[in-house]
Amino acid sequence: MNINISMDWSSALDAIKETVGPNGWLTEDADLEPYVTEWRKILRGNCRMVVRPASTEETAKVVGFCHRAGIPITPQGGNTGMVGGGVPEDGIVLSTERMTAVRELGADNATITVEAGCILAAVQNAARDGGFLFPLSLAAEGSCHIGGNIATNAGGNNTVRYGNIRDLVLGLEVVLPDGRVWDGLRGLRKCNTGYDLKHLFIGSEGTLGVITAAVLALTPAPKDRVTAMATADSWQDLLKLFAIMRSHLAGSLVAFETFTGLGMEITARHVDDVIDPFTEPAPLYALIETVCYGDDAAVREALETGLGEAFEQELVGDAVIAESGPQADNLWRIREGLPEAQSVESTVIKHDISVPISKIPAYVAEGSKIATEIVPGCRVLPFGHMGDGNLHFNLLGPENLDRDEFLAHMGKVNRALHDLAVGMGGSFSAEHGIGLAKRDDLIRYRSDVEIEMMTWIKSAFDPSNLMNPGKVIVSVSGP
Ligand code: FAD
Ligand code: MLT
Ligand code: ZN
Repeated sequence: MNINISMDWSSALDAIKETVGPNGWLTEDADLEPYVTEWRKILRGNCRMVVRPASTEETAKVVGFCHRAGIPITPQGGNTGMVGGGVPEDGIVLSTERMTAVRELGADNATITVEAGCILAAVQNAARDGGFLFPLSLAAEGSCHIGGNIATNAGGNNTVRYGNIRDLVLGLEVVLPDGRVWDGLRGLRKCNTGYDLKHLFIGSEGTLGVITAAVLALTPAPKDRVTAMATADSWQDLLKLFAIMRSHLAGSLVAFETFTGLGMEITARHVDDVIDPFTEPAPLYALIETVCYGDDAAVREALETGLGEAFEQELVGDAVIAESGPQADNLWRIREGLPEAQSVESTVIKHDISVPISKIPAYVAEGSKIATEIVPGCRVLPFGHMGDGNLHFNLLGPENLDRDEFLAHMGKVNRALHDLAVGMGGSFSAEHGIGLAKRDDLIRYRSDVEIEMMTWIKSAFDPSNLMNPGKVIVSVSGP
């Protein structure tokens, strides 16, 4: 640790209150509660104050006071993260919720410049109003912030065509741990001028600085979309179906999401307005989304031809193609309702693995065996982004086991399922990050050289270890 303290905590907290004004801070226990508890209600932390600066300038001053007094800072957006990265251990929570301006929509450049606290859905709407698409889409889009999306390098449902958010960020503005502002808000598609610093902050989960604004790349708004759902008997059949769809649809294929019969059953049971479009239950379902930039009839035809081929090869049992926007929305509600439905149904042990797509069937077979051996009676609920090789291999608690007894198996079952993914050339955290929950996994699965490089980066940016301490990488002893 290397802290040059020039202010005490009490004076710094007073100076922070003065900087952000009466609407910019909270200290009452009841007010702090939603910021110190993650939405899953598994992890809970503590903080002295929640600070809600309204601008980059205020953020810089707040971080500067913390730097001088040695106060830890936990940046927080919509608090929808899955790994406890926004849960504070002490100090302040720095919430971006009052930094919500869309600074500019550059139609000629196809870019949008937004402040970190913009809710993802608001960014999508602003892009749509300007005649564009901002393609990042995930079930938490009504509450997560764009700053949080960037800090976690969010993936979501449209990665097959548009990539993770890393592929959509052109420039960033960041308040560094000592309170200085890095203005990297360049909206350039090409700029090879030394190390590309923005990539260090994307996915850094608040450990290197506070992201205050971003320039994002927009794509033309599609003319239309065609959405379909198909049933299948096996993961091997879904794999073949995906290959057929990819070859027929190429760049028009946006999403290939999958879930099981149990997923359909619990979503229909717990989520309002969900209609199962099939007459018979099936073991597996694929949700296929396409975009049409030119001839939408041609995209529909390619989708129909692909499904026809899959029927001929007996890969799918039944299929529906949405005939209207509301029908397509219903298909998406089934998939996007799953995270909520699983939590209503039972206590959940979550996983976010990725493997080369070809290995998904083997992973599900082997993983199900491992999970039910470790937690007899648990219900395996794999779902998610199969087109990216990313499954949420989640486990629902057995009906006769209480919550704590079920969660007591978490360490062992996590380890076994992560070992399996990494052993297949995959990842133990495909899109949710490390936060608090996966710090030990990072040390276990990344090489010594990788851990050392990450430690160098952390200690170079944040030698006092005040920026989201205890998250992602713990040690800060540098070279
Ligand atoms: P928070 O939870 O507030 O914070 C997440 C991390 O980022 C923390 O470490 C925090 O310190 C840091 N952080 C937040 N804001 C900043 C900032 N301005 N500067 C620096 N650091 C910051 N994730 C996916 O990738 N794909 C999905 O499909 C997906 N689906 C989800 C569905 C549901 C229903 C839910 C609840 C979550 C889902 N998530 C998904 C996880 C989550 O929504 C994403 O990780 C999201 O990007 C987090 O954004 P947030 O604003 O809520 O961040
Ligand atoms: C999703 O894709 O819906 C989330 O990332 C899933 C989850 O783990 O609940
Ligand atoms: Zn996901």
